[in-house]
Amino acid sequence: MLGIDGLTVEEITMLLDLADAYVDQNRKHDKKSDVLRGRTVINLFFENSTRTQASFELAGKRLGGDIMNMSVSTSSIKKGETMIDTAMTLNAMHPDVLVVRHPDAGAVKLLSEKVTGAVINAGDGRHEHPTQALLDALTIRRRRGRLDDMTVAICGDVLHSRVARSNIHLLTTMGARVRVVAPRTLLPSGIERFGVDVFHDMRAGLTDCDIVMMLRLQTERMRGTFVPSIREYFHFFGLDHEKLSYAKPDAFVMHPGPMNRGVEIDSDIADDINRSVIRDQVEMGVAVRMACLDLLTRDISPN
Ligand code: CP
Repeated sequence: MLGIDGLTVEEITMLLDLADAYVDQNRKHDKKSDVLRGRTVINLFFENSTRTQASFELAGKRLGGDIMNMSVSTSSIKKGETMIDTAMTLNAMHPDVLVVRHPDAGAVKLLSEKVTGAVINAGDGRHEHPTQALLDALTIRRRRGRLDDMTVAICGDVLHSRVARSNIHLLTTMGARVRVVAPRTLLPSGIERFGVDVFHDMRAGLTDCDIVMMLRLQTERMRGTFVPSIREYFHFFGLDHEKLSYAKPDAFVMHPGPMNRGVEIDSDIADDINRSVIRDQVEMGVAVRMACLDLLTRDISPN
């Protein structure tokens, strides 16, 4: 599971259908099953994470697997061991799944070519974050009952965002209309080739849209200056009630987290339970990751 790019409508639908069932399991008093009994999952995160790492750990435990969180900051990587040597070392311990996050685009694919178990991309640089797009899709589908025939505005730092890329692939594959709304400095050149409509003005970009998906300014990936100031960025591109009023009256607001309140989103919107589905997204994250772990381990021979 290296990316959404290349997945078919049927594959995405199968993953979402299975995740839907896991949402129900996660709301029960007894959340455990033995789907992953005897299986080993290693979380290998070379970049910080709260939501993705915690939800993969919970997902694996709820499915009855053995889950190990590899602490990169206290590992031999700090003594100069390479990512590939680290992965090969862990691979020798026969994990069934490696869940990997890395700051460099393509690093997870490279690693997947060196190990024998399944590999899940938990975010590689600005390339892809497939389970985020799947959890976003599940959130939308459970709210609206479909993914097609709707307009989704993805707003903010599209240039540095793997979440934007995976969501564009998924939503356009499933038949949604996607807009990207950002200053010119925060859009990759040729973004139109992804089948999206481009806007540089929030009010125009949000007009009559069904869903507003906000993105964080990814300062950790920036080399140079992309916005004049945070104050000016929030003035033109930060989501507040006034700008949201241009969207459909029942439009809802998403954010993958972590959020920078007062930078890309106003706290009033982020905490508005009538407009924001940010907490739903976190809940869906565990179910989607259970579905991925379940499906990927079904194909692995125990020997
Ligand atoms: N959305 C997301 O990937 O959050 P984390 O960086 O906290 O995992």
